[in-house]
Amino acid sequence: MPLAIVVLAAGRGTRMVSSKPKVLHPIAGLPMLFHAMQPAAGLDPDRCVVVAGFAAEQVSQALQEHMPHAEIVIQKEQLGTAHAVDQARGALADFDGDVIVLFGDTPFIRPETLQAMLDARRAAADVVVLGFEPADPARYGRLVLEGGRLQRIVEAKDASPQELQIGLCNSGVICCSRKNLFDLISRIGCGNAAGEYYLTGIVEQANDAGLACAVVTCAEEETLGINSRAELARAEVIFQTRARQAAMAAGVTLVAPETVFFAPDTRLERDVLVEPNVVFGPGVQIGEGAVVRAFSHLEGCQVGREAVIGPYARLRPGSAIGEGAKVGNFVETKNATLEAGAKANHLSYLGDARIGAGANIGAGTITCNYDGVMKHRTAVGAGAFIGSNSALVAPVSVAAGAIVAAGSVVTRDVPEDALALGRAEQDNKAGAAERLRARKAAAQDA
Ligand code: UD1
Ligand code: MG
Repeated sequence: MPLAIVVLAAGRGTRMVSSKPKVLHPIAGLPMLFHAMQPAAGLDPDRCVVVAGFAAEQVSQALQEHMPHAEIVIQKEQLGTAHAVDQARGALADFDGDVIVLFGDTPFIRPETLQAMLDARRAAADVVVLGFEPADPARYGRLVLEGGRLQRIVEAKDASPQELQIGLCNSGVICCSRKNLFDLISRIGCGNAAGEYYLTGIVEQANDAGLACAVVTCAEEETLGINSRAELARAEVIFQTRARQAAMAAGVTLVAPETVFFAPDTRLERDVLVEPNVVFGPGVQIGEGAVVRAFSHLEGCQVGREAVIGPYARLRPGSAIGEGAKVGNFVETKNATLEAGAKANHLSYLGDARIGAGANIGAGTITCNYDGVMKHRTAVGAGAFIGSNSALVAPVSVAAGAIVAAGSVVTRDVPEDALALGRAEQDNKAGAAERLRARKAAAQDA
């Protein structure tokens, strides 16, 4: 049975106080919209329709970047959640299957919860609503049950004092066949306190049409919606807490878990050890037994087994660190491969470079990759030794087994096993220091 997802993301999110639509504010570096859509990805939907409104061009751009298969439809005026869903009517006209409606600002629904809704829908119900029992139900829509059957949903603004006593609330997520969804919402009016077309009206319409409605429940934490920067920060905490727990459960040691920050796609193999204050940006993979020492920042990189990174290392996109290699303190790499056992232990910039197996990059070595217009590559062969404070002016190569003397500026390729000296020759003038001091002292006395 095919499945479509409709994600409501047209609201401005006034309380964010932002020029950016709320759904594009990031959690763990990725727009919350994509966190909201992530749990549905596990159900392998055939179609994904995002309803955008406020700053729709920005939403469209972000979708192209992160989720090119998603479609976007525009809700010009935000007349309510039913009106928002109705904007997907045309896009789904030829779709025959079930639809799950999600909110773009609700990023923590678990895939298992959506699966349970889909199962309930296919087993016994025409309309399935996701309910939960919040500690404080104040502003949520209430699920009105009679004889164990869901009769209707009443928004807090429209509820009677008795209805406000109900603890079971509406998360906003619903599941329904495409045909029933659009048939039923076309009958929903806007005669309520807010004058909006409420999607919640679908339950009453379904019951009037003799269809069956059911409730699946989940934990309150799953339904957490984000409306303000403070709630965004809280969402980051929830995401990071889960990511840390998942990493530890998978055999990763986090010395101070609360100081390590993950991206949604961070992949750490077992026995990786992460010291305090480490940030993983998007696209990081780390092999078994590697160590990431304190205060390191990694993104878009692969780190091989048993490698040691940091403390204070920065691995930028395109870095590939081989098995047992070392990237030490205040070393930055970008678009650079360090093959197995290579070492860059101190104070270096390695950009657009390939460092061969077992090569040693001395303290302060810089690959001069940028000439102000173009980027160029540096190649260092296996087992080569680059003396401290050398500048490798790209494009340039130092072949296997070669040695570059400390302080060299290397502008020409160095052949295999050669010694390159690219610096002024030293001249020792006997006794000159003493004569210099005497002259200065005399000038001071005068
Ligand atoms: C909604 C539910 C309420 C539920 C609560 C859970 C309705 C009528 N009410 O209320 O029962 O308890 O969520 O958080 O559905 N949106 C659009 N276009 C619109 C209106 C809204 O895209 O015209 C989007 C918003 O951007 C948001 C989502 O739909 O992502 C929910 O809208 P919101 O205004 O937050 O609904 P609530 O009042 O919270
Ligand atoms: Mg809301």
